[in-house]
Amino acid sequence: MRVDYSPASVDPGFFYHLLTAVVVPRPIAWVSTLSPDGRTANLAPHSFFTVSSARPPVVQFTSVGRKDSLRNVEDTGEFVVNFAPEPLLAQINATATDFPRHEGEFDAVGIEREPSLRLKPPRVAASPVALECTLHSTLRLGDSTVVFGQVVHAAVREDVLVDGRPDITLLRPLARLGGNEWSTIGKVRKAARIPYREPAAG
Ligand SMILES: Cc1cc2nc3c(=O)[nH]c(=O)nc-3n(C[C@H](O)[C@H](O)[C@H](O)COP(=O)(O)O)c2cc1C
Repeated sequence: MRVDYSPASVDPGFFYHLLTAVVVPRPIAWVSTLSPDGRTANLAPHSFFTVSSARPPVVQFTSVGRKDSLRNVEDTGEFVVNFAPEPLLAQINATATDFPRHEGEFDAVGIEREPSLRLKPPRVAASPVALECTLHSTLRLGDSTVVFGQVVHAAVREDVLVDGRPDITLLRPLARLGGNEWSTIGKVRKAARIPYREPAAG
């Protein structure tokens, strides 16, 4: 037996809860932006986040509604995706508070910043990876806006690299589940891709 849900016949908020409970775990983009006057450094987690393309390198996050991060990206064309590691859960969560636009989360929460290499918005100093992005395009979908960012620079802290590659056990990513749930990395398993083999003739 299955329980069936049709978007047309349930409360609109229902599908938010359903989708965020079943599309799991979601990586978290800790997005830093700068106000157009350059004075306010904004920081907010976004778990509607993924890679859009590797060639060219493009990532995307979705603003559900119009928020400060989205406005700043639209106004300045720049944002940084800071990696969200397990030890920073409390700080990441604190930056999800709905501060007014003139109150930047870096200052309000006390997050140490460092300059970006290519862009004006700062990076989170304690985050091991920063993807510096310029706005590629946006896509409106109902009350949400998908933001595509071209990665113009990636900065990875040396101590999370093993043989020149980011190591999952050193990165310790956080993920978002449904409701107020978060998760950490579980057991890591490896499985090599199986090349296709023509069936033997006859
Ligand atoms: C783990 C986590 C993930 C979140 N993911 C999203 C998301 O994908 N999209 C979104 O619009 N809000 C998301 N939020 C809520 C925003 O972070 C929150 O509304 C924040 O205040 C937006 O800040 P801003 O107005 O400075 O952009 C998330 C919150 C948390 C704690």
